[in-house]
Amino acid sequence: MIYQIYPRSFRDANGDGDGDLEGITAELASIRELGVDAIWLSPFYPSPQQDGGYDVSDFRDVDPMFGSLDDFDALIARADELRLRVIVDLVPNHCSSEHGLFRAALAAGPGSTEREVFIFRDGRGEGGELPPNNWQSHFGGSAWTRIDEADGRAGQWCLHLFDSSQPDFNWRSPVVQEEFEQTLRFWLDRGVAGFRVDVAHSLVKHPDLPDWGGRADGGDSDGYPGHEAPMFGQPELHDIYRRWNALLREYDGERVLCAEASISPVERLAEWVRPDQMQQAFNFAFLGAEWEPESLRSVIETSLRGFDAVDAPTTWVLSNHDVVRHATRFGYPDGGRPDGTRRGDGIGPNDIQPDARRGQMLARAAAMLMLALPGGVYLYQGEELGLPDHTGLPEAARQDPTFRRTSAERLGRDGCRIPLPWTQHGPSVGFNDTGASWLPHPVGWGGYARSVQHADPCSTLSLYRAALVQRKGLSLGSGSLSWYDGLNDDVVAFVNRDVLVLLNLGTDDVTLPELAVILDSVDVTGSTSGASHTLVPDQCVWLRYEPTSQ
Ligand code: NOJ
Repeated sequence: MIYQIYPRSFRDANGDGDGDLEGITAELASIRELGVDAIWLSPFYPSPQQDGGYDVSDFRDVDPMFGSLDDFDALIARADELRLRVIVDLVPNHCSSEHGLFRAALAAGPGSTEREVFIFRDGRGEGGELPPNNWQSHFGGSAWTRIDEADGRAGQWCLHLFDSSQPDFNWRSPVVQEEFEQTLRFWLDRGVAGFRVDVAHSLVKHPDLPDWGGRADGGDSDGYPGHEAPMFGQPELHDIYRRWNALLREYDGERVLCAEASISPVERLAEWVRPDQMQQAFNFAFLGAEWEPESLRSVIETSLRGFDAVDAPTTWVLSNHDVVRHATRFGYPDGGRPDGTRRGDGIGPNDIQPDARRGQMLARAAAMLMLALPGGVYLYQGEELGLPDHTGLPEAARQDPTFRRTSAERLGRDGCRIPLPWTQHGPSVGFNDTGASWLPHPVGWGGYARSVQHADPCSTLSLYRAALVQRKGLSLGSGSLSWYDGLNDDVVAFVNRDVLVLLNLGTDDVTLPELAVILDSVDVTGSTSGASHTLVPDQCVWLRYEPTSQ
């Protein structure tokens, strides 16, 4: 089980309002205590922070905002003591426009080998005033920006699938390949267990850069099936990952590459997970599933089948730093979203607000369902506290480039990145000692604090801890799933090893089979579980399964 840490919002040891590596190191024991095997650190590299650190200006250093390389070494040493493995983020599709390679490319001019490191093209139109093609940025607007040449005249266009401050690398350039091989070795030499590979499906673009009227995020749209997109899933990518796989094998022990790739269907995503390429890929189909019994069963079934076919474990994930937290998503009908918003877009004070109570209840049940599934699991910091999104964030506080690039039409992802609450009271609810915070906390945030939940045996934190202990003890991660029939269709029901998992997504109570309760999303301590033998709506239970009971 891997726990994602978003460093800027985890814990702030020096009190400047931004989380740091020292803050993470100080709290590794509490993460370990949760039953975590490994942590994945989102970027902490030098960055102008135009895209939350995914705009990297040096791939082999630590941003002073987060500390120093010595702090990183101290983090690894502490993680080793606790037997926690550390995975870091690798951002190979693009860098910051402040990166030395990009500055050199700008200075060197058209036709130079330095420009070959990125994707520069002359514009269309008589004076080159139109972008080379119609590709759109993930964050809104054109994926091309025209640069000023050294003599001050409007010059070539540069491709950026994300913000204009994030130029895309040209992966056909040997300089790029060398830069990343060095980067992999740099962090492996410092003791990391592997890499989460950012937008792993987009490094290589079709050489002709043809127009594409489909979605910028690789999803399917009318007449534009995602698998034909010229900026995603190109065959040459597999050679890159084969080389990296071989490089990782030069190091002792188990090392992993996990693809962040919005590729559908799952069978196609599974092409990335091969013995000689990546070990894992995030299962975004599960994250985006409608929490409606048929769709959920179908996503689980297809995910397991798709990854079984390549003999790899699937990974389950409900939240991360790019999506509205699931405790908020589940506060809308079917785990959906207010009308008209897209995955990754935030929710603001003017939107329909979620039903917070239902969101919490279903979030607990969903976590229990996920933690009972065979495969790997990724948790996003704060979900073990049941944190919702900040849906009242004032516009002036927003930092996500999506907000800026769409002129506030799409709110972006700040709402899921609010610094964690550690104590109920005190400055910044324990995020630091000073009260400074790069994003403001919502009112009542202290009620979710770790210290409060630690002391409460029925809290969401206690539920996660209990579920993770049982998951490990019962070896559910390496088990297998068979659907369990005979209950109301609104109940998602399956058996994994000796556990019968039941989640009621209907609106009526359902009578439980007469089996011992292992864990209950409503009553963690089990003081009332089993007494009523009833599964209420949005409740999940794990029961001790006896094959004769069906
Ligand atoms: C995916 C990352 O998770 C997201 O935060 C980032 O904005 C884009 N890739 C671009 O790096």
